[in-house]
Amino acid sequence: MEIVIQRSADAAIEFVTQIIAREIRGNPRCVLGLATGRTMEPVYARLAQLHGNDGLDFSACRTFNLDEYVGLAADNKHSYRHYMNQHLFDKVNIAFDNTHLPDGVAANLADEGKRYERLLAQAGGIDLQLLGIGLSGHIGFNEPLSALSSRTRVVELAPETIEQNAQLFGGAHNMPRQAITMGVGTILDCRRCILLATGYEKSEIIAEAVKGPITHMVPASALQLHSNCTVVLDDPAAALLGRISNYV
Ligand code: GLP
Repeated sequence: MEIVIQRSADAAIEFVTQIIAREIRGNPRCVLGLATGRTMEPVYARLAQLHGNDGLDFSACRTFNLDEYVGLAADNKHSYRHYMNQHLFDKVNIAFDNTHLPDGVAANLADEGKRYERLLAQAGGIDLQLLGIGLSGHIGFNEPLSALSSRTRVVELAPETIEQNAQLFGGAHNMPRQAITMGVGTILDCRRCILLATGYEKSEIIAEAVKGPITHMVPASALQLHSNCTVVLDDPAAALLGRISNYV
């Protein structure tokens, strides 16, 4: 696990944006794993800028998002499909058919998990997976107790996650209680993982994920097992890591 600490959130965002842009330039047919959440919004804004100003070309890229809320259709403004269209897909030259998210309103959600895994395998797996981290320690929506070998499936959201995201839904009572998410095992299969966290609010869970034991109680700690994982932080998110600035 490589830890990169940048002075500011802007610098951390730029660092991650440039990793993604390099991946796309070096391998125009790359398969990108994408994440949602507030942390990623400025990354997508920068990628859209690089498309507009420097011609960063998404036309051959394929994307797979980590997760979707159960019960939210694509046209629901709280769905992750809506988020991705709004923040990235509508702003770059990606082919809509090349963008994938689990279907949160599939008639059979167990089959949907299997279908998503098949689609991922047919695409040849994920070259670069972007990750955020939830205050519960989740990656995707893999909440505490998620098996480290888990695959795409329906999960119950943790109370911390409901609390963390409730404001986006105008209150906890409006929030879905379930999501469909790539598993920890699915994420560990990606060829490269980049986790981005910014702000002091994330410092405690980052310290647990990076320095703590590998445990299903902190699903992000499973990334310690990945052979090509970079954790990009700003100073506040790295505040509890002590003096060590680089783990490999
Ligand atoms: C969300 C997503 C995660 C994301 C995390 C952090 O609920 N399912 O993929 O990384 O929570 O969100 P934020 O960036 O808003 O803190």
